[in-house]
Amino acid sequence: MNKTINSNMKYYLAPMMGYTDCYLRNLAEKLYGDSIQTFSEMIVDKAIIHNEINIIQKHFLKNNKSAIQIAGSDPQEITQAINIINKIELIQHVNFNLGCPSSRVQENMLGLALTQNQDLVKKCLEKIMEFKGDISVKCRLGLGLEEDKNYIFSYLNLFSNLGIKEVFVHCRNGVLNLDTKKNRTIPKINYNLFLECKKNFPKLKLIPNGEIDNKETFDLLIENDVSDFMIGRQFAKDLTFLEKLSIYKIKDKQISIGKFFNEIKDYKFLNLNLIKKSLFTILTNIPNAKNVRNNISKFQDIDSLEEYFVDSKIWN
Ligand SMILES: Cc1cc2nc3c(=O)[nH]c(=O)nc-3n(C[C@H](O)[C@H](O)[C@H](O)COP(=O)(O)O)c2cc1C
Repeated sequence: MNKTINSNMKYYLAPMMGYTDCYLRNLAEKLYGDSIQTFSEMIVDKAIIHNEINIIQKHFLKNNKSAIQIAGSDPQEITQAINIINKIELIQHVNFNLGCPSSRVQENMLGLALTQNQDLVKKCLEKIMEFKGDISVKCRLGLGLEEDKNYIFSYLNLFSNLGIKEVFVHCRNGVLNLDTKKNRTIPKINYNLFLECKKNFPKLKLIPNGEIDNKETFDLLIENDVSDFMIGRQFAKDLTFLEKLSIYKIKDKQISIGKFFNEIKDYKFLNLNLIKKSLFTILTNIPNAKNVRNNISKFQDIDSLEEYFVDSKIWN
């Protein structure tokens, strides 16, 4: 294993409500090609069951490459949702959420709250396994504030026994009855425990997540043979930050953005403000950023916005 930055490293844009819409995901895929895998925002199984056509059309473009992240806690409903997803060819990967601590999610015993009941998690995952494509889960390192190796080890055993091979681990515990924002800061990041999991479960593909936004963290993880990284907030702030850290060279932004516009143009629910929001994530460190952002804010239609990006020399 090559313990330096290399072109085989893979990046995962973490699912983020209100951020990882189809625009940001498509833009990320155009910039990073096969080096990135993206995930939809969390979608509750009930929404798929009751509003199938709209939900799928809203979250996924025709050429979709993203995984769908779903949450649920009723095995029968999960079966119904999976039966629907099994018929949608553009979805090839289902990720199951076992880490979301939000109060609404908690009330419905989804996400992190569901992990209080490992038997029920098992029953839910058995239904998830009926999906015909790729399957992964996203979980926390523990439940509550204290380090608890048993929690993550017993879940990794469960995933492994069920045949789930890909696990995204947010490398900090989740705490119920603590608000969602604080749940991303108060429980301490614990890469050491993650690395211990990796040693103990060599057959699982464990992908770390949580504050992987600086060179020191990349160096630490790479030194420990990690070559896959799930990144959330830093990508949402600056989709090109890997370039600034000299970790990844984005080949041709102008061409990538041209492809991005081509693919989103015929999307039924086109929303210019959300398109701009995703484009702003690649404009943080360019010369004259403020002016460019001001110019972009003024465009009222997608064609003028496209022309501006494709014709102007923003990156030259
Ligand atoms: C605004 C926001 C929304 C999020 N929504 C989801 C979600 O829908 N599903 C999920 O599994 N995690 C969600 N997360 C958690 C992220 O996927 C990720 O685990 C967390 O932000 C830690 O990674 P980071 O430090 O790289 O941001 C969300 C995070 C943020 C900031």
